[in-house]
Amino acid sequence: MQSSSKTPTGLHVAAIMDGNGRWATARGLPRTAGHRAGVEAIRRVAEAAPDLGVGALTLFAFSADNWRRPPAEVAGLMSLLRRYLRHETGRLARTGTRLTVIGRRDRLPRGLPDALARAEAETAGGERLHLRIAVDYSARDAILAAAAAGIPASREAFGRSLSGGVPDVDLLIRSGGEKRLSDFLLWECAYAELHFSDRMWPDFGPEDLAAALRDFSGRERRFGGLVPAAA
Ligand code: IPE
Ligand code: IPE
Ligand code: MG
Repeated sequence: MQSSSKTPTGLHVAAIMDGNGRWATARGLPRTAGHRAGVEAIRRVAEAAPDLGVGALTLFAFSADNWRRPPAEVAGLMSLLRRYLRHETGRLARTGTRLTVIGRRDRLPRGLPDALARAEAETAGGERLHLRIAVDYSARDAILAAAAAGIPASREAFGRSLSGGVPDVDLLIRSGGEKRLSDFLLWECAYAELHFSDRMWPDFGPEDLAAALRDFSGRERRFGGLVPAAA
């Protein structure tokens, strides 16, 4: 599961959508306004992704450690997610986007797990883009949960049980200027190319995704081997 050629529909790009709070604070707005603007950025980026060669897009929306934030901010994020599902599911289905959610569901507010399941069912036929949203997600917890289900004999089998067959990440983007992984897709990013952008997520757009992909296309992926002989 190392090379992008194993992804029939394109690259697997993952993004740590960081910087919503700072974007809002810089404008004298409440942090929740930044999260709202961040949802607009999700829409723009997801709609542009397939034409840029992306087949799977995994977005970090809420980490298992984000429960540490003030309850009002957490509640705001949960209600934005609810609203996103309510308003976007039809459009996702129409644009051939399959939505799935990774992360724990048992700690989410009442009604949200059902709303997630409905959105997943309604978009299940999408073949243009697989959009995965990580909610209450911790890579270390996901690895522990997969391990608790029984250790398969190989990396490939373990990876499949972890990601349901979605190939490893080709390109990991983090917006907002920080350069860390914050417990996101640790197994799946074993050989991901990393791209850090100073752009705050609400300002991140299709041009930034295109720039990250241009950067990616200039990278030489060796997977521990040697540079291929010049053709
Ligand atoms: C990312 O933006 C969204 C979530 C983590 C939910 P932040 O809220 O982390 O924004 P900053 O990093 O404080 O600017
Ligand atoms: C990572 O961002 C999680 C999400 C983007 C959802 P954080 O803002 O929570 O990460 P840290 O605290 O800067 O590592
Ligand atoms: Mg942050």
